[in-house]
Amino acid sequence: MFKLQPKLKDGIISFDVNDKTTKSVTKFYEIEPFPNYSSNEDKRSLLDKGDSNDLSKKLKDFIGFNKTFIEIGSGTSQLSNYLAAGSNNKIYAFDPTEPALRLGYNFASENNINNVTFVNADIFDDVLEDEIFDFVWCSGVLHHTKDPFSGFKIIQKSLKPNGYILIGLYNKYGRFRTFVRQILYKIFGKKLIMFMDPYLRSLDKRTSHRKINSWIRDQYEHPVEQSHTFDEVLKWFDNHDIEFINSIPSIGEDENNLYFNQTSSGRGNVVSRVFSQIKMIFGRLGGEGGLFIMIGRKAKKD
Ligand SMILES: C[S@@+](CC[C@H](N)C(=O)[O-])C[C@H]1O[C@@H](n2cnc3c(N)ncnc32)[C@H](O)[C@@H]1O
Repeated sequence: MFKLQPKLKDGIISFDVNDKTTKSVTKFYEIEPFPNYSSNEDKRSLLDKGDSNDLSKKLKDFIGFNKTFIEIGSGTSQLSNYLAAGSNNKIYAFDPTEPALRLGYNFASENNINNVTFVNADIFDDVLEDEIFDFVWCSGVLHHTKDPFSGFKIIQKSLKPNGYILIGLYNKYGRFRTFVRQILYKIFGKKLIMFMDPYLRSLDKRTSHRKINSWIRDQYEHPVEQSHTFDEVLKWFDNHDIEFINSIPSIGEDENNLYFNQTSSGRGNVVSRVFSQIKMIFGRLGGEGGLFIMIGRKAKKD
């Protein structure tokens, strides 16, 4: 599974993290691990939450059973714990921020979820063997690293032929509203943002302060943040024998939002792709940070 010899630290497989940028990012997330759990969260509520989210529910159905899945940059590892609960899949939650991973590990232990392996490591140390996962998921992570494209090159190596990869990144156009709010946050502070940020406005009154702070820090105070376009990621896929399957927002013809199709939903053209990124600004995705998702499948071996 690993190219290097790890240590085991209280149930978590652990590698030294040495990169300067990764260390500054882990220091940032150690204060408020992201996305964090609500105080009353348990396996039942996690399953309910996962099942009510269209993407995570379809992902779980798509994966089925007997698969190996890795969530790279899993933070507090909700997705990994959700996918593992009630399945026999081998799930790996991978993150360099130990306190975030520890929250996920503790949740799994307390809720009797036994098929998640927690790995404390940095993408750039390239610790994973090649072609071992049926699914590689990396959302909300690469744009917080020193070199997103190099990070992508490393993580796609661990994908099996015919395996699926999902990359979630901030969009250069779609994040426009957040860029504006980041300026306002610097001038006017938290109170205004509590009112202006659609995600924060949507939260339940019982949401913990830690969860709220973790969002505010992640969106408005992050020390390392970049943004990307559809065309950049299409090029990443094309250069690594990964067939583009789908995206959110869709740039092709997946009207039923099936996401993990067997065949590509089509990639539109430069103009339609620019248009759908501009359109993000005015919709829910643009309101909540401008994250876009690209899904691909690695070519089969001859
Ligand atoms: C915004 S959080 C996203 C957490 C989770 N993927 C989600 O969407 O809820 C970003 C995570 O990326 C992790 N991360 C940052 N740099 C990384 C790196 N070089 N290798 C792996 N993970 C990294 C951080 O530790 C943090 O937990």
